[in-house]
Amino acid sequence: MLSLTLNRFQKSGFQGIALQERTSPQPQAHQVLVRMKAAALNPADLHIASGEMKMMSPVKPPFVLGVDGAGVVEQVGAAVRGVAAGDAVFFYTGLVHCGTCAQYMVVDAQALARKPEGWSFEQAAASALALLCANLSLSRAGVKAGQRVLVHGGGGAVGSAAIVLARALGAEVDTTASATDAAYLQSLGASTVFDYKTQPLNRLPKSAYDMALDGMGGAMFLQSLPLIKTGGVIASLKVMTGLHDMLRMGMKPPAIVKWLLPLMFRKYTRAARTAGVRLEGVATYGDGHSLSALGKRVVALGYQPRIAKTFALHEAKTALDFFVNGQPKGKVVVVT
Ligand SMILES: NC(=O)c1ccc[n+]([C@@H]2O[C@H](COP(=O)([O-])OP(=O)(O)OC[C@H]3O[C@@H](n4cnc5c(N)ncnc54)[C@H](OP(=O)(O)O)[C@@H]3O)[C@@H](O)[C@H]2O)c1
Repeated sequence: MLSLTLNRFQKSGFQGIALQERTSPQPQAHQVLVRMKAAALNPADLHIASGEMKMMSPVKPPFVLGVDGAGVVEQVGAAVRGVAAGDAVFFYTGLVHCGTCAQYMVVDAQALARKPEGWSFEQAAASALALLCANLSLSRAGVKAGQRVLVHGGGGAVGSAAIVLARALGAEVDTTASATDAAYLQSLGASTVFDYKTQPLNRLPKSAYDMALDGMGGAMFLQSLPLIKTGGVIASLKVMTGLHDMLRMGMKPPAIVKWLLPLMFRKYTRAARTAGVRLEGVATYGDGHSLSALGKRVVALGYQPRIAKTFALHEAKTALDFFVNGQPKGKVVVVT
């Protein structure tokens, strides 16, 4: 089968990647062979390809890139129940497997979700990680009706899903994004869209939000704290507070990481404590059951994941270049 294979970690990103023929994998008892239809590229792929995660994840080169995918079940392992050949599925592999940018992939049956009715394979592939991530962040923060939520990066895959899910919980949502995304984000339910290129965070309303979702860490994290009410929550996708999510994802971090994490993020944990804001570091995990339910929920809300551009698998290297340099509005998807 044709696959987008990473042959070596490379700090600069995707240079160690090539289109290669590999032997099609065979499912074990609890696994399923999926004929892949689409795979989405994610910032996580860059982190993995650069070797940043190599202490934490068992994935070692050579391996096939991609953590988000959708396809059709081709063959099921002997112990798999409730999934049959021909089922249309989508899934997030976690950061411990990878492999969606190929014609076939073996997936643990428990990770598979039903492809939402009315979504293409491309849209399903574009949304698995983002849906799980946005939902986990909002649920960790305990967002409920009547609260005010600030979603940073609303134009992104995670941000747009978070706006839709937070609105469905009854929260009022403001977001930071490029001005060109304002109309799109208001159509998803955002009240105010702050243009991050012209409106610095220190000009946003102070102590106004019950929760902020931070996708970047650094200055975004620190400058968000004064915007959150005392007793509110910052859910960060970059500032990690512990290993529990990584262990749930199946990562096997060496013991030293447990000691290093608090040191690496001390500045942020202290700042949150001083501001009286609860910090939730979120590293996404989730199973097929929750993903199926989430897919159904957002489809019922009319959500359509945004796709910037699709590429054929043989054009995958161009897709990677567009993902890194093309300033895509929405997901870059490889049709497998
Ligand atoms: N911890 C986890 O489990 C986890 C899971 C998923 C993602 N993430 C992280 O979450 C972040 C978002 O992921 P994604 O998949 O949604 O990425 P994405 O689709 O590339 O979206 C990023 C969005 O952020 C916007 N943006 C860039 N700089 C900004 C700023 N200073 N203020 C506000 N918005 C800004 C971009 O807008 P323009 O394109 O208009 O500039 C873009 O719409 C990434 O950093 C990713 O690594 C973490």
